[in-house]
Amino acid sequence: MIDTNIGVSEFGMVGLGTMGRNLLLNIADHGRSVSGYDLGQDKVDLLASESQGRPTLGFTDAAAFAKSLRRPRCITMLVPAGSPVDAVIQSFKPYLEPGDLIIDGGNSYFKDTDRRIAELAPTGIAFFGMGISGGESGARHGPSMMAGGSEADYDKVRGVLELVAAKADDGRPCVARVGNGSAGHYVKMVHNGIEYGIMQLIAETYDLMKRSWGFSNEQLAEIYGTWAKSDIGGFLLEITETVLKKKDGETGKYLVDLIRDEAKEKGTGKWTSQDAMDLRVSVPSIDAAVCARELSDLKAERVAASKTLATQAVQGEKDVARLREALSIAMITAYTQGMAQLRVASGEYNYGVQMEPVAAIWRAGCIIRSVLLKNIMDAYTANADLPNLLVDPGIQETVKQRIGSLRWLANQAVATHVPMPCFMASLAYIDAYSSERLPANLIQAQRDFFGTHTYERIDKPGVFHTEWAEGA
Ligand code: 6PG
Repeated sequence: MIDTNIGVSEFGMVGLGTMGRNLLLNIADHGRSVSGYDLGQDKVDLLASESQGRPTLGFTDAAAFAKSLRRPRCITMLVPAGSPVDAVIQSFKPYLEPGDLIIDGGNSYFKDTDRRIAELAPTGIAFFGMGISGGESGARHGPSMMAGGSEADYDKVRGVLELVAAKADDGRPCVARVGNGSAGHYVKMVHNGIEYGIMQLIAETYDLMKRSWGFSNEQLAEIYGTWAKSDIGGFLLEITETVLKKKDGETGKYLVDLIRDEAKEKGTGKWTSQDAMDLRVSVPSIDAAVCARELSDLKAERVAASKTLATQAVQGEKDVARLREALSIAMITAYTQGMAQLRVASGEYNYGVQMEPVAAIWRAGCIIRSVLLKNIMDAYTANADLPNLLVDPGIQETVKQRIGSLRWLANQAVATHVPMPCFMASLAYIDAYSSERLPANLIQAQRDFFGTHTYERIDKPGVFHTEWAEGA
């Protein structure tokens, strides 16, 4: 009989839902002793039945759970973002001591994380956010983890996290302390913004090939399977192939054809766009992906408008090779925008984020893992202060070689009537970013005209105002 009063467990988990239980089992797989806590006895029982001889303890009693942990205690919580996180902190606070550490492993809003760090500071209980990506299978077999907080606090859990994290091809564990304070949750939020972008881009290629080119699900699955093994391969392309092959057990039809075309969201993509706006960073591919989900939700309005506006898809020019090249450039653009946002956020919020480790820990375990991240990591190895990935010579070469395919695809979107907002936004981003001159001079003149907002000139320094209508 184990005496749980003496603190035997090295690691504690609050919230034994799918993610929490699987991560705990992953840690126990590596021989580390763990304690799990949940309000529901059923979840604790499930942990017990799944742990099969591994060093795990389960509790529904907070005091007993806290007692079972070695000092200083390291507790990770995996509970829904929002008020449940505050509730867990409040209920465990009485059983914790200065030096103990709580990690929020959920998709919490970064500003909530900053508030919680500040609220716990007077108690001496350390707190940081850690984005965990990879879903159920990632948690069980190796997730990608993005931690915030101080070096000293991260060092308390570094060993166990490196043990259980996914490993990239070079053996490097996909976990790191990415920066101070709420940096872990910020990086995960941006990860999800990029996730939205890539998912929408893949969905747009699917829409074109299905509605305009008339490809069958079998043909589509084969194409995505080939792309998944190419130089843009990654998790999201792999699962697209699997999804397209899946038949419904009940009807025998392809399951994807039976799913309502209304995309839901928990909010992390929207937060990415919102904060990018606050920071004045341009992330139009991510914005377009968020907007596409919102528009998809207007099913009844869309059905009505389809009868009156009737912009049905028409046959386009079938060119799978060009489509793949266009996707590769647009995917790079989605990563580029997310990374650019992270760089500015790091300065604004004093995170001290290093870009190379972020790219490195996204190479395996997480949802946006792809071959492209190796090139992105190399770009930051060559220049840690890269302002934008589009100025890296290697990435620039790929963009130059393939941008013709992105232009071809934009023309296809226009010609076939298949909406491709994320591809269009990606192309416009590259064109705008590489334009020596933009029409912002006219915007400035207009602002000055109606609001006396002033403007700067190209031929002399200073700030100017003109009475534009005078003598007109
Ligand atoms: C991950 C995922 C995960 C979750 C998203 C879904 O990295 O494992 O991003 O965190 O699946 O939050 O987000 P939406 O519900 O907003 O699509």
